[in-house]
Amino acid sequence: MSTPFEGRVLVTGAAGMLGSELLLTAPDGVHPIGTDLRAAPDGNPAVEIVGVDLTSAREVDELVASLLPLAGILHPAAYTAVDRAEEESELAHRVNAVAAGNLARAAARHGIPMVLVSTDFVFDGTAREPYRPEDPVAPLGVYGRTKYEGEERCRAEHPEGLAVVRTQWLYGPRGQHFPGTILRLAEERDELRVVSDQVGSPTSTLELAPALWDVLVLGGRGTYHAACEGEASWYDFAAAAVELAGRKTTVHPCTTEEFPRPAPRPAYSVLDSSRLAALRGKPLAPWREALATFLNRP
Ligand SMILES: NC(=O)c1ccc[n+]([C@@H]2O[C@H](COP(=O)([O-])OP(=O)(O)OC[C@H]3O[C@@H](n4cnc5c(N)ncnc54)[C@H](OP(=O)(O)O)[C@@H]3O)[C@@H](O)[C@H]2O)c1
Repeated sequence: MSTPFEGRVLVTGAAGMLGSELLLTAPDGVHPIGTDLRAAPDGNPAVEIVGVDLTSAREVDELVASLLPLAGILHPAAYTAVDRAEEESELAHRVNAVAAGNLARAAARHGIPMVLVSTDFVFDGTAREPYRPEDPVAPLGVYGRTKYEGEERCRAEHPEGLAVVRTQWLYGPRGQHFPGTILRLAEERDELRVVSDQVGSPTSTLELAPALWDVLVLGGRGTYHAACEGEASWYDFAAAAVELAGRKTTVHPCTTEEFPRPAPRPAYSVLDSSRLAALRGKPLAPWREALATFLNRP
């Protein structure tokens, strides 16, 4: 990309599914520095990971000060255990709301642009058409509520230099995710039942990571949605993964009621990513194409 953007960029959650992909996709001229709770996780390809607990304002301030000058901060680190969050609401709040605010305050103090990664779970899923960034939020559970509070804290701390990017249904080369689980189960079973009454957009980190870099490099501000194009139920997603991987397992649709979970999920949370597509000049790939690319990679 021909851009004057260069220098050090702090990437949080660098051991996570999305953060690890961000470290690998930094644009030319950018030196990403990863941070996570653990300093050097096994099997992570990151070159350099600094271990810091972002819920501590002091640790965040010291980290940011030690890395100056910083050209940007990408913040995907989060408490992401949606069901466990119902029991661990205090921890989810500290990571998703307090830590995000800590980072935004430090970024604002030094005039560093920041990209916060958020979620479709800020919506209640009652819409019938894709959610736009300006649509009213109404999170159903602790995870979505704490992520939205993180958004609001960052907006308040860093009004001039913030982009919030909401995404959904992530999977990628590292970490635990839905197609990985489905393909593991498909090795063990002839038949699978998967819920067909929750609809979203499966999104590959291979597509999302470059898009997040673009938001930073192109100076995006305000709220964006970032998901692969099109929509699918979890059943559609599972059936496509099984088919594209050449497995013989039969996938059957079932209802959410048949598979109760501790945290409620939005029934429909397809994101309208057109504002991001306008910024970048292109959308993320259609979800099925992105899934095929992910499954066929060497
Ligand atoms: N996964 C999805 O389907 C999905 C959907 C929509 C939005 N998102 C958003 O996308 C982002 C990335 O998700 P992901 O699935 O890649 O997450 P992930 O794999 O769970 O990675 C998050 C990372 O943040 C770290 N972390 C947790 N608490 C921390 C703290 N106090 N200080 C520093 N680091 C901390 C975690 O470390 P530990 O593992 O050691 O706790 C983990 O390595 C998140 O903001 C999430 O809300 C994800």
